[in-house]
Amino acid sequence: MVKTLIIYSSKYGSTEEAAKIMSHMISPSIYCAVDEFKPGYREYDFFIIGSSVYQEKIDASLIKFIDNNRKWLQKKPISLFCTCIDKNGGLNRLNELQKFIGTKTLSMKALGGSLIINKLNHNDLQLIKDFLNTVKLPLEDMDFYNEEEIIKYSLKLKNIKEGIIKSR
Ligand SMILES: Cc1cc2nc3c(=O)[nH]c(=O)nc-3n(C[C@H](O)[C@H](O)[C@H](O)COP(=O)(O)O)c2cc1C
Repeated sequence: MVKTLIIYSSKYGSTEEAAKIMSHMISPSIYCAVDEFKPGYREYDFFIIGSSVYQEKIDASLIKFIDNNRKWLQKKPISLFCTCIDKNGGLNRLNELQKFIGTKTLSMKALGGSLIINKLNHNDLQLIKDFLNTVKLPLEDMDFYNEEEIIKYSLKLKNIKEGIIKSR
């Protein structure tokens, strides 16, 4: 039996929602936020790592987690995803994350995320205002979150998991 762990970081919920859907579609699996990770989870067989992109970077808490756990993580089968607004940029961030882990991941996908202005904390609202002002865009919600896209990637991850079973 291949047990899957989906580990994610999410400030406003899109990445968490994606992790939840993946976990429902791939069994047996659990999903947990980086700060909920327990040492016993190292025994899992397949790791799906997800983050959102803030200011053209993978979330700092996920980077810290990888830095602290790289040694054993490198030996595991891993797939990656992120939620973001700019998917090309997101894919670049995932390629950088793969290098940072120091392994060849089995798959990676930049998924559409959402930016809901009235959900943002004070600091993030200011950052977004400044950014949109610089690129001369209006301050408005951007919602590219797409459940179908997540389900499609979950099916791919399920196939990858089946491949891990066969190769054992
Ligand atoms: C402060 C801030 C900075 C962001 N910077 C980027 C960015 O550089 N590139 C991008 O594609 N999306 C950016 N986003 C959009 C987020 O990646 C997107 O909203 C994502 O779905 C958030 O995930 P979460 O709901 O799990 O926190 C930014 C969002 C915030 C709040």
